[in-house]
Amino acid sequence: MALQVFTAVTGASWEATLVGALDRDAHGVTVVRRCVDVSELLAAAASGTGQAALLSAELRRLDGEAVARLMGAGVAIVGLVEPGDDRGADRLRQLGVSRVLPADTAPELIAQALRDAVAGAPSAGRDIADPRAALPALGTPEVPEAPESGKGRVVAVWGPTGAPGRTTVAVGLADEASRLGVSTFLVDADVYGGVVAQLLGLLDESPGLAGAARLAGSGTLDAAALVRLAWAVRPQLRVLTGLSRADRWPELRPHAVGTVLDEARRLADLIVVDCSFNLEDDEELSFDTAAPRRNGATLAVLDAADTVLCVSGADPVALQRSVRALDDLREALPDAEPVVVVNQLRRGPVPGDPRTEIATAVERFAGRDVGFFLPADRDATDASLASGRTLAEVAPRSPLRTALRSMAATLAGVPAPQRNRRSSLRDRRRAG
Ligand SMILES: Nc1ncnc2c1ncn2[C@@H]1O[C@H](COP(=O)(O)OP(=O)(O)O)[C@@H](O)[C@H]1O
Ligand SMILES: [Mg+2]
Repeated sequence: MALQVFTAVTGASWEATLVGALDRDAHGVTVVRRCVDVSELLAAAASGTGQAALLSAELRRLDGEAVARLMGAGVAIVGLVEPGDDRGADRLRQLGVSRVLPADTAPELIAQALRDAVAGAPSAGRDIADPRAALPALGTPEVPEAPESGKGRVVAVWGPTGAPGRTTVAVGLADEASRLGVSTFLVDADVYGGVVAQLLGLLDESPGLAGAARLAGSGTLDAAALVRLAWAVRPQLRVLTGLSRADRWPELRPHAVGTVLDEARRLADLIVVDCSFNLEDDEELSFDTAAPRRNGATLAVLDAADTVLCVSGADPVALQRSVRALDDLREALPDAEPVVVVNQLRRGPVPGDPRTEIATAVERFAGRDVGFFLPADRDATDASLASGRTLAEVAPRSPLRTALRSMAATLAGVPAPQRNRRSSLRDRRRAG
């Protein structure tokens, strides 16, 4: 059966010729609907009558959200750009369209791309691992090159409800990594309202992540724009602040947040993302599948992350919440391998030696080892909160700062800092 295709290329000078040729010749493609705009295309996609869409970079109001909705409706996409329009090709890719061809490509190759897109085959424009991609084969259209993807690693700092210390860990981790010489990007992606700016004493009026997501949604985010939107807190630390008001969460569209992280990977070696706790898909109850999902951004971050930290408190209630949260995570993202960070470790709420007891409980109920323990250290966190400065600045020798620094070294893959001799001698004298 012929592949049923929607087109949304109206206005382009080549439209009539191309659509005619696609339809007329035996390319195994039937154009079932020529859509004039994005809304018509989305409505057609929702009707389930087509498997693929051919759209042009010039299509008005095309954004990442529309692309995500098309894909969500099971419609594979091939983008067309005016020959030589590299910017248009980049924009389409940023919106999530990986297969982009110049509009003067032969109709049979466009039909082939549509079939490949439906089959989910890797797109030639991206597959740099395939040596054939380097050979200019006869008749192969010149595909505008996909930009090289960045190398930075994304660490998502997530955890259950109950304020286990996600933000404290995210800020500490980013600050310490930057002090160890790692170029670091801290992103506040808490969809229930971000406080990273406040913790760092930034008088924040900037659009931050929401602004970056807006540009990403329209396909116009690039490194320069991301740098403009972020605060340069220290030479190696940039910060993209979060939502100043929790009710602005619809501005953090999942696809756009993913694109922001992709761009951040090109700017920094380590990207630390402060996430919300919730993974629940409350919108499952709603029949409007296109409704924005509050927790979608959190899932997008966890899905994109190279490392997911699950920050847990160190008392029985907090641990139980973490076990449940880890269950939810397994259900939402079965491939994620979260690293458990037990924060606020202290004697008292858990009988016996808290490290051993907690490690045993986490292993038994969540099937995970504890990756890191961080001590309860109210003096240090209070000093930091009171001054809007980081632990390294206000409590450089505190136990929490020391633990965060060695965790940052491990996660960033740099040598652990040597404690300076004088302070370790002093500690020994004190202890003795
Ligand atoms: N290791 C710790 N020792 C003492 N207090 C901590 C520690 N970690 C976090 N806190 C405090 O706990 C509270 C909640 O931390 P926060 O990082 O905002 O949690 P979350 O982001 O998970 O909601 C804050 O007042 C913070 O200073
Ligand atoms: Mg927080």
